Amino acid sequence: MHNVYKYTTMYAIAPAPSLQGRHFLQASDFSSAEIRAVLSLAGYLKSRRSGEQLTMLRGKTLGMLFEKPSLRTRVSFEVGMTQLGGQVMFASGAEFMVGSRETPEDAARVLSRYVDAIVVRTHAHEPLERFAHAATVPTINGLSAEAHPCQALADLLTIQERFGALAGLTIAYIGDAGNNVAKSLAEAAVLCGVTVHFGAPASHSAKESFLAHLQRLGKPHGATARAFRNPTRAVRGVDVVYTDVWTSMGEEALKERNAASLIPYAITQELLAYAQPHSIFMHCLPAHRGEEVSAAVIDGSQSVVFDQAENRMHAQKALLVALLTDLRGIPV
Ligand code: CP
Repeated sequence: MHNVYKYTTMYAIAPAPSLQGRHFLQASDFSSAEIRAVLSLAGYLKSRRSGEQLTMLRGKTLGMLFEKPSLRTRVSFEVGMTQLGGQVMFASGAEFMVGSRETPEDAARVLSRYVDAIVVRTHAHEPLERFAHAATVPTINGLSAEAHPCQALADLLTIQERFGALAGLTIAYIGDAGNNVAKSLAEAAVLCGVTVHFGAPASHSAKESFLAHLQRLGKPHGATARAFRNPTRAVRGVDVVYTDVWTSMGEEALKERNAASLIPYAITQELLAYAQPHSIFMHCLPAHRGEEVSAAVIDGSQSVVFDQAENRMHAQKALLVALLTDLRGIPV
């Protein structure tokens, strides 16, 4: 029996085909069954974390190429790879600016000769796609202007842990609905049967074409996506309230303009009270208390932001095992 079927027994998920050798640039690069299989594997790996040295990725090297700063993504991949028996090579700054010293294609071809998988954090998304197209080893998006799919896996793992299942829940994403975190979260959510409400002003709304894309992804799983101008209406009755900083890395010149538009969308205790009493508050971090979220909310009893941060590591360990192995030999 294929091991994913064994996870089915343990974690009540649908079986999925192998992900070995695939790239992961967007959440929707994976099917619903594939995302749920990765989440199941993440749960299994998390259950074995207590100081145990695993060997699933022994002899494997993960390359990490970062154009932008990172705390969570870098450290969670590095520690996760070490826990799985592999090793990491990290490059940033002048050593790695996609397209400045050489083409993304040449960098990808060279690095594919050295390492077994590559995490890339870029400013623009298009060079990442060119890099992945030329790479002969799995390429993982560690954040680009368009997407943050590893964050979305950790977010869904956290929601699943809290509610026991994903299908039928509703998330309200409040703030900049066009940012990378919002888009990846929404794709992964609707694929898992979670309806998404965006609460954003016209200046930061989800594009109609993206909403249509989410409707197509979510329809087979009973999930929809809706855009609201009124933050109260977006949050009313939902299970999860999510926000992110109002200005993404590299866009600091827009900070004042973004704040002027987004102040009514800050997550306060008053706004959170419109969600279900059992609702949770999520943020991918880093956070700016007093801007997109009040200190009372992010440090309050409904906040799960540090579970989310921890789950980056568990979800990414599962992703690495799925992309780099055929899952045979994993004890379940
Ligand atoms: N959430 C997240 O991606 O954090 P870092 O930018 O610190 O990696």
